[in-house]
This record gives sequence, structure tokens and C-alpha cells, in this order.
Amino acid sequence: MDALKQRLLTTLAAFGQEHLLSFWDGLSPAEREALATEIQTVDFRLVADLFARSEDKTAIRELVSRATAPRSYRCGDPASAIPPDVARKRGVEALRAGHVAAMLVAGGQGTRLGFPHPKGMFPIGPVSGKTLFQIHLEKVLAASLRYGVRIPLYIMTSPDTHDETAAFLTEHGRFGIPAADVVLFCQGTMPAVDAKTGKVLLADRHRLALSPDGHGGMVTAFHRSGALDDALRRGIRHLFYFQVDNPLVHVCDPEFLGYHLLANSEFTTQVVRKREPLERLGNVIQVDGRLYVIEYSDLPDDLAARRASDGTLEIWAGSIAVHVMELPFLQRMAKATSGLPFHCAHKKVPYLDEQGNLIRPSEPNAIKFERFIFDLMPLAERAIVVEVDPERHFAPLKNASGHPSDTPESVRARLSAVYREWLRKTGFEVADHVPVEISPRFALDAEELQSRMLTRRPIVTPTYFG
Ligand code: UTP
Repeated sequence: MDALKQRLLTTLAAFGQEHLLSFWDGLSPAEREALATEIQTVDFRLVADLFARSEDKTAIRELVSRATAPRSYRCGDPASAIPPDVARKRGVEALRAGHVAAMLVAGGQGTRLGFPHPKGMFPIGPVSGKTLFQIHLEKVLAASLRYGVRIPLYIMTSPDTHDETAAFLTEHGRFGIPAADVVLFCQGTMPAVDAKTGKVLLADRHRLALSPDGHGGMVTAFHRSGALDDALRRGIRHLFYFQVDNPLVHVCDPEFLGYHLLANSEFTTQVVRKREPLERLGNVIQVDGRLYVIEYSDLPDDLAARRASDGTLEIWAGSIAVHVMELPFLQRMAKATSGLPFHCAHKKVPYLDEQGNLIRPSEPNAIKFERFIFDLMPLAERAIVVEVDPERHFAPLKNASGHPSDTPESVRARLSAVYREWLRKTGFEVADHVPVEISPRFALDAEELQSRMLTRRPIVTPTYFG
């Protein structure tokens, strides 16, 4: 037996993972090297510990049973403890001072959507067919022009999405943002394990079934890649975090930033008021003065259904994964620990069986380990939530056409509905259901649209303002 195989076997045997070398003898030297490299990057002790703890939900129940309503502000609400115009003014100040950067996480595999490219390359513009990336980058560019400042954009990719994303953005000139202001960095991976046995799955004879380590992998990857230091060098203090699948996000929204700054928060998160107890959103709760997000799948039914005396849900705040975080806080977190905790998700993961056949399971067969960015929340000294209107802020693209929700069709319809509302506010007559679209470079909001010189003609056919 060769020395490398012997060394690997010794490591693997300690954790019952020797099967990873089942096909070793038939591999080429290059394939052996590739497999050995992957095996050496895996922390098998961690994987074993995570698998052993994967079913334990008692801690969550204990936490949720002590939940109270989080400290919150409502965007656009004059009765809010911080008036919206005061918040907006403070946010604009921070933007103009060059203290704000944008962080887009785009490392996910997008398995539910089933698109054979990074999700950011999906064409979603209801009239233009623009991709998610183009919409997001144009928003960052429009904000930087509006506030007369460079707004660096950090984009987290993963080994699954990195090369194609980099090539796509280069090919399109980063949609107008200077090269120096778009910084890509790649997140880490974790192996998927068989849900029954905890054995790491093989994706091929010489490859482990590795997947990105969750959006929470951002904390470690941002630091390790040097991108966090890049932001500090630029004088950035606040990071506006958003996810690639939501084209309705108000990137670098000054009002949202303003609540964060005036409340002296380290981590601020956008939420929507849940319509049902078990809506498919993370639930933001407050326990002993700290904020936590509990996944809807982890929320016990009886606790989810609890109502206050006025009939409203006690656990009412659903996270839409838009946050602002302080850079020094992120730096502290990246240095203090080996990373955020891992969560277990039961997923369908293709794998090689003992005979070397590729099996594509029809039911979840595996556990993936992922870090979630919202686990930063309880670690923040001060954290607040800001309520926004879901119709205007949240339309995530998650599923393929034909699914009941969050499909390309439903997201396009939601985008059109928002633009239709802006146009109507501006005095246009717009026929119902007609696709309309406004480029972020044309107007970032209804007020900016209002300020444009436009002929108010009735809109009855698909129309793009760009
Ligand atoms: P989701 O949790 O919806 O995952 O990601 P996904 O990969 O897009 O889709 P499915 O679950 O495989 O169908 C929410 C956001 O977090 C990013 C995604 O790119 C998306 O912006 N993300 C997720 C990462 O950047 N890295 C990850 O490891 C996971």
C-alpha cells in the first residue's frame, strides 16, 4: 500500500470514514492527489460531533419559551421612536461620508431553483430580462452616484459559483462599477454525510460531496480572504448585507441605515410581520435582551401559535435576511472564534454507492452542515429589528416554475407590481397586470421617478424605463 493511502487511512479510520478510499486503487495520480487534498481539508472530528448532535432540539425549545418581543422600529412610520426622516438623514450622512459598503452573498447552490449557473445569473427583470446580478449592481452604482461616493461591493462566492460569477461580472464590466470597487471572495465548504450513518458521501470516485458552508461562512471567509482588511483600509464602518435572490431589496437604504446608527446598534435586521404562526421565515425573538433567529422548522407549533392579549402573534417578526452590521463587530467575531455554529439540514445529495454508481435520491438522504449569518445576532452587544413592508422589500427567487411560491413568474409579477405603484404615484395610468420595469439607474424610488421629466401617457403594453 502506498504511503499516502496509509496516512489517509489512519486519519479516516479514527472516524469510521475509510470508505472514502474505496476506489483509490483505480484512481490516476492526479485524482489521488485531488482526493487526498479534499480529505486533508475536512475536520472529521467536527463532522462527527455535529452528526451526533444533529437531532437535539431541546435547547431551542427552552430558548423560545422565554422569548419576548424584540426592540423594533418600523420603516416609514411617523409614530416610530425614531422618526423616518431623522433616520434617513443620518443614513445619508453615513453614505456621503463613505462609511458604508455593500455585501452580497452569492455562494449558494440554488438547488431548489435548478438553474445550471450561479443564481445571480438568472434573468429576472420582468421586461428587460436583466439578471439578479445586474439589478443588484445597478442599485449599488445608482446609490454611489446619488450620494457622490464610492460604495465598495463585496461579493461572497463559493467554489460552486466563483469562476462563473467572476467571468460574468468581468464580461459585463461589472455593470458600470469600477473594478477596484467590486471585491469577490470565496467561502469555505463542508462535506455532506449520510443521514443514517454519518458517513461522508462521495460525489465521484475522487471527490467528496462538498457544499458551501452556509451564508454564515461569510464571517470567516471575509476575514481570511483579506476583504475585511480592505474594507477597514477604505474607512468603511457599516456593512449593508443582502442575499442574491431578492431583487426587491433596497440596497444601502438610508432610512434603514439611520435606525441602525441612531440606535447605536451593532447588528440590525429587517423583518416583516408574519401572517401565520409557521410562515417559512426565520423568527426573530428576544431573550434576556439578546436577539436570536429561530428557523420556522425549529419553532415548536404551540409556541409559534401563542398570541398577545390584542390577538397578534407573540412571535411576529420574520427575518428577510437584510442586515446592517458594524465592521469592528464583524472583525471581533472573526478573530474571537473559529466561526459561527453549524446547523444541520436534511437535503437530497447525489452520491456514489459502494459499486461506484451515481445515485440521485428522490427524498432527502443526507445532512448538510451550514453556518447562518443571523447567529451573529445574539453575539452583538446591541441589536435591533426594523419592520418593513414585505410587498415592497421582499420577493426571493427560491423555486423553479410550477412551485406554489417564490418562482421566476411570481418574482417578476411582484417586481412589476412595485414599479406599477411608483408609476401610478407619479401620475401614470398603468393597466393592471401589464409588465413594467424601472432600471435602478433611471430611478431608485418613486420620489426619484417623480423628479424625472416624463410624458404621462397610459401604459398598456410591457414598458421598460432605463
Ligand atoms: P438559501 O439558503 O436560499 O440557499 O440561500 P440557496 O443555495 O440559494 O438555495 P437552495 O437552498 O440550494 O435551493 C440564501 C442566500 O444565501 C446565499 C445564497 O447564495 C443566497 O443569496 N448562500 C447560501 C451563500 O452565499 N452560501 C451558502 O453556503 C448558502
